[in-house]
Amino acid sequence: MKRYVVWGLLWLMGAGCTADREQPLATLVDRALAHAERQSLVLARKYTDREGRLPRTWEKGEDVSSDSRWWCSGFFPGTLWYLYENSRHDEVLEYARMYTARVEREKFTTDNHDVGFMLYCSFGNGLRLTGDSTYREVLLTGARSLATRFRPEVGVIRSWDHSREKWQYPVIIDNMMNLELLMWAAANSGDTTLRRIACSHADKTMEHHFRPDYSSWHVVSYDTLSGCPHVKQTHQGYSDGSAWSRGQTWGLYGYTAMYRWTGDDRYLQQARHIARFLLNHPNMPGDGVPYWDFDVPATPSTPRDASAAAVMASALLELSGFTQGAEAQGYRDFAIRQIRTLASPEYTAEEGENGGFILKHSTGAYPFASEVDVPLTYADYYYVEALVRLKRMLQS
Ligand code: GLY
Repeated sequence: MKRYVVWGLLWLMGAGCTADREQPLATLVDRALAHAERQSLVLARKYTDREGRLPRTWEKGEDVSSDSRWWCSGFFPGTLWYLYENSRHDEVLEYARMYTARVEREKFTTDNHDVGFMLYCSFGNGLRLTGDSTYREVLLTGARSLATRFRPEVGVIRSWDHSREKWQYPVIIDNMMNLELLMWAAANSGDTTLRRIACSHADKTMEHHFRPDYSSWHVVSYDTLSGCPHVKQTHQGYSDGSAWSRGQTWGLYGYTAMYRWTGDDRYLQQARHIARFLLNHPNMPGDGVPYWDFDVPATPSTPRDASAAAVMASALLELSGFTQGAEAQGYRDFAIRQIRTLASPEYTAEEGENGGFILKHSTGAYPFASEVDVPLTYADYYYVEALVRLKRMLQS
């Protein structure tokens, strides 16, 4: 706390401290959260009468929406929950409930692994903030649906059912993000199988998804008879051997969260290794917002991925709480650098612009020319989560 007060005073004393990057941190965080709430209300009001629809992105001046089946359906309600946590405004609560309800049917999803993203960000935050017991039932049902995708003889949760001609049993690094739902459900139902599934997945992913430098492959497909990988490839990255930026940050976040749930030191060490890879990467831009892949030959026009920066910032803030001294300070400083960049006009939308989304310049799937240099709900979600985490740290 004291350190931040000193920083704040130093900024205040500096001459001409008006630029966004130079604002005292606590002010910047409060302003960024207030802006995020106003933008999200624009989006929330716009979608009120679009029954069953959820915002996805905004491209060429047009809203792009999805139904709850899209893997991102839980992020917008989740963003509203974090904003409600910050402001306690009734209107935000009302919208958080409304958009959360639009995702409920995903509790029966058994044909992909994204149930964790969909339900834990929406219903998980909703339960945490309201204690609503109906949310608890949705989360438990969703966790059991997700668990149907685990095969003990392979030891991991199957991510996708498509592309069977290429992959027998594909698992993507993103899947680390779905484990929290299982850990929560195990802790809240006593069903220890769910915890064993999550840990088995994290352990086997640690064994097979990572290279010696702790970068990760995007897709590892397992042979269903031997349980061993038969192919390691990319889907959304630059090349099979490259470090797709968001994938690296899913790994960082996933192992940090698994350490929080288990206290297992192996997960903490894995998160630290991934953080070292990211923080020391020669292609990490000075402002902390990665290009869409760390191995793409970058030019000034190469798209960045603000979503990767947001996921990374949020994870680093949590990881800083599990480490000490200069290491913890390094994670915090880097996350703050990323947040300052994302909160600047380069990345933060003008109020009422950007279709109501908070951040600009994310990249969904560059190789498919899909969602390149656009706003995305998950960039907004993890950015707001990072702001809320940072605010808590500043107040503690
Ligand atoms: N989970 C899909 C993505 O990160 O694009």
